[in-house]
Amino acid sequence: MRGDLERVLFDEPAIHRRLDDIAAQISNDYRDRELTVIAVLHGSLMFVADLLRRIPLPLKLECLSAASYHGKAETSGEVIFKLDEASASGGGQIELPAVASRDILIVDDILDSGHTLAAIREALETAKPRSVRVCVLLSKKKQRAREVGTDYVGFEIEDEFVVGYGLDFRERYRNLPYIGVLRKELLEQPDR
Ligand code: IMP
Ligand code: MG
Repeated sequence: MRGDLERVLFDEPAIHRRLDDIAAQISNDYRDRELTVIAVLHGSLMFVADLLRRIPLPLKLECLSAASYHGKAETSGEVIFKLDEASASGGGQIELPAVASRDILIVDDILDSGHTLAAIREALETAKPRSVRVCVLLSKKKQRAREVGTDYVGFEIEDEFVVGYGLDFRERYRNLPYIGVLRKELLEQPDR
C-alpha cells in the first residue's frame, strides 16, 4: 500500500503527538460538563478511538454514518445518512443520536467541501443540543461549498486526496497507520 502513495504527510508519531494536544484542549474545555461525542463513520474510526482514550472525562459516544463521495474522489454535494442496523427503527428510518440538551462534539476525519459536516450539524441541531462543537483531524485549505466552523483541527493540508488512518479511497487504505497523498493516476483507474 505504501507504493500507492505519492508521499507520506503525517507519520504515526506525528499523529499521536497532535492527538495529545487536541485531547488536552478538549479535556480542559469540557472539564465541567459531560461530553457527548458523535463520531462520523467510517473515516473517523481510528481518530476517535485514539482521541477518546486520551480524554480522562466521563463522556458518551454515539456514531453515525454519512457519505457524500460515493466512490469518487470528489464530493457529489449530496449527503446520505446511513444508519447502523442496531439503531434502525422498524421502517428503516434514520434515527439520529439522542442529543437534546447535551454538549455535543462532532468528530470527523476531514473537512473538504463542507457538505457532510454542514448537513450533519444541521440535522443534529434540530434535536436541540445545548452546544455543538466540531473536531476534525484534517482540514483542506480551500474555498468550501458550505462554510463549517471548526473548534479543534488536527492538521491543515493542501487540497490533495489523502488516505490512511481511517481515510479511504473506495473503502481501501483505512488501515494504514499514517496519512499520505494517494498517487493521482490511481484516482482515475476503474474500481477493482
Ligand atoms: P465534504 O463533504 O466534501 O467535506 O467531505 C467530507 C468527507 O469526504 C469526509 O468525511 C471523507 O470521508 C471524504 N473525503 C474528503 N476528502 C477526502 C480525502 O482527501 N481523502 C479521503 N476521503 C476524503
Ligand atoms: Mg470516505
